[in-house]
This record gives sequence, C-alpha cells and structure tokens, in this order.
Amino acid sequence: MKLLITGVSGLLGINLAMESMGEHEIIGVDRGTLKSAPFQIIQADLTRGNVIDPIIDLTRPDWLINCAALANLEKCEEDPVQAKKLNTDLPGELAVACAKGNIRFIHISTDSVFDGTKEGFYTEEDETNPPGIYSQTKLNGERAVQEANPQAIVARVNFYGWSLGGQRSLGEFFVNNLKEGKPVNGFTDVIFCPILVNNTARLLLGMLQQKMSGLYHVVGGKPMSKYQFGVEVARKFGLDETLISPQSAKMSSLTAKRSHNLWLSTHKLSTALGHEIPSFSTGLAEFYTQFQQGYPQKIRSYQQGAR
Ligand SMILES: NC(=O)c1ccc[n+]([C@@H]2O[C@H](COP(=O)([O-])OP(=O)(O)OC[C@H]3O[C@@H](n4cnc5c(N)ncnc54)[C@H](OP(=O)(O)O)[C@@H]3O)[C@@H](O)[C@H]2O)c1
Repeated sequence: MKLLITGVSGLLGINLAMESMGEHEIIGVDRGTLKSAPFQIIQADLTRGNVIDPIIDLTRPDWLINCAALANLEKCEEDPVQAKKLNTDLPGELAVACAKGNIRFIHISTDSVFDGTKEGFYTEEDETNPPGIYSQTKLNGERAVQEANPQAIVARVNFYGWSLGGQRSLGEFFVNNLKEGKPVNGFTDVIFCPILVNNTARLLLGMLQQKMSGLYHVVGGKPMSKYQFGVEVARKFGLDETLISPQSAKMSSLTAKRSHNLWLSTHKLSTALGHEIPSFSTGLAEFYTQFQQGYPQKIRSYQQGAR
C-alpha cells in the first residue's frame, strides 16, 4: 500500500514510518526537519492554503495517517489560533480530501479529551470535557473528521518512545535525566496508559488492514501513574529510581490544565482487532532494546544538519 504520513518528523510520525516502510511505500510530509530519511519526503506547511489537494493529487495514496498537530499544551494556550488551524481545521480538510479521493484515513486524537474526574476507566461512549485549548481543539478536530468522513478512524492515543529531537516523550525525559544523575519529579496523581509508540504504529496499521472505521482508544492496557512509569523505566534501564521524587501534579509549574485520570479502556479496539494490546512490559523491553541497539541515533541521523 502507499501510505502518506503527515507530521512524519514527529514522535509518532517517524516511528510509524520506520514500522511500515518494510511493507509499504511511505511518503512523509515534513517542514524541513528530515534530510536523509529512507522514504520519500514532501516539504509543506500544512496550515498554508491550497496545499492538501496538490499533495494528494501528486501522491495518490491508499492510506493517510495524520500525525501533524500542535501537541505542546503550553504552546496551544499561548497561540489558540495556530492550535485551531492544526488540531481542528487541518484534520477536517484532510478528512474531506480522503473522502473525495477514496483514501482510508486515520486521524490521531488524544486521551486528554476527558477531564479525568471519572472513577475507573473511560470508554469511547463516555462524555468528553476537554480541560484546555489543546484538548478542546483536538476534540473539535475529531468532530470535524467524523462529520466530513464517517469512514475515517479517529484514534485517541498516548505513547512514549524515541523521537528525532530526543526529548519529546516521557520515556526519554526519565532516561535522559536519570542517566545524568539528575533528580526529577514523578506525578503520583496523574494516571495514564503508556504504550511504546512502535506498538501504537503497529496497531494503527492493523486497523487500516482490517478496514475499521470510527472512534477507538489506542493506548496501553495497563493504567499507571507517571511516577510509577518513571520507576519502571529506571528499573529496566538499570538507573537510580530513588532520583525520582513522588509528587502531586498540583505542585507543578506547568500552566496548561491537565486531567488526572486518563485510564482509557481498549476493549473496543482489542475486540475489533481480535487480539490483545501488547503488554506494557513487552513494550518497555523493546524500548530498552532499541536503546541498546542505537535506534535513537539511527532515526536522529535522518535530520537536517545531522552528521
Ligand atoms: N505524544 C503523546 O503521547 C501524545 C498524547 C496524546 C495525543 N497525541 C497526538 O498524537 C499525534 C502525534 O503526536 P506527536 O507526539 O508525534 O507530536 P509531535 O512530535 O509534536 O509532532 C507533530 C508533527 O506535526 C508537524 N507539524 C506541526 N506544524 C505543522 C505544520 N504547520 N505543517 C506541517 N507539519 C506540521 C511537526 O512538524 P515539525 O517537525 O516541522 O514541527 C511534527 O512532525 C498528535 O495528534 C498528538 O495530538 C500524542
């Protein structure tokens, strides 16, 4: 299949390209970060007018996965106009183009459309209540996609892994700091469902292969606090877990509001796929193996200016 990935230089985009390029023809859309990637790159700012149709006409993909976003919560609070362009308008426009061109489309959304006040887990049926600009614009993006293209998949995600910049994921945050012997805080009152981004990528490809459509939670199967996650990473990498201080997120200096419980059920996804979601421990073991085998350096070498 020919797969077009928007936001290919992001944490999900690059790992999705790495996971799929053995089996599929990959074309990535990028703003100039990638120089020597082992797949075709088209340079474009996707918020500029009249860029989407020409890219689709030129590439004629079978599948499109939209990983482009303004995914930094603080930046969204600072620039709500840009947040709306990337997180709401762009997905809607891509959904229209895919419907017109008969292209199977996945739009990537977020677990944080929920306010986190529920006890227990959230299903796809639960009411949303986004706590800030990022999550509000992402929820509006989901709605724009569903309205324009009912065949599309909307995947609410959360993941960790190795990124081009080396600092994009929580997994990298713990590894980078603990390796340097730096003390860090780990929130004990923020629950999420981490999954290795390569597993997210494999699940998304499986969803396309099975011609699924609709809204799905595509996260890990094991809820844990961010503190617990840090401890698990430290143990796997043989780093000093006592450098991680258990702390309440209420003490954080981050300005954008965050939800405290993002335990999302993956029952709908695993039932539709006909298999379990890869376990947390398998993903963490792969994260460590990638580190040992130089995977972070390999993907970083694809960047503009990398030696
Ligand atoms: N990371 C997580 O755990 C997490 C959690 C929940 C949801 N998500 C969602 O998952 C998706 C992928 O997230 P991520 O962590 O991979 O994000 P990321 O690393 O911040 O990547 C965002 C991508 O969007 C691209 N982009 C930004 N503005 C653009 C523009 N004007 N034109 C073209 N491309 C543009 C970026 O390109 P540049 O390199 O040029 O900036 C980058 O490739 C997003 O929809 C995000 O909301 C992620």
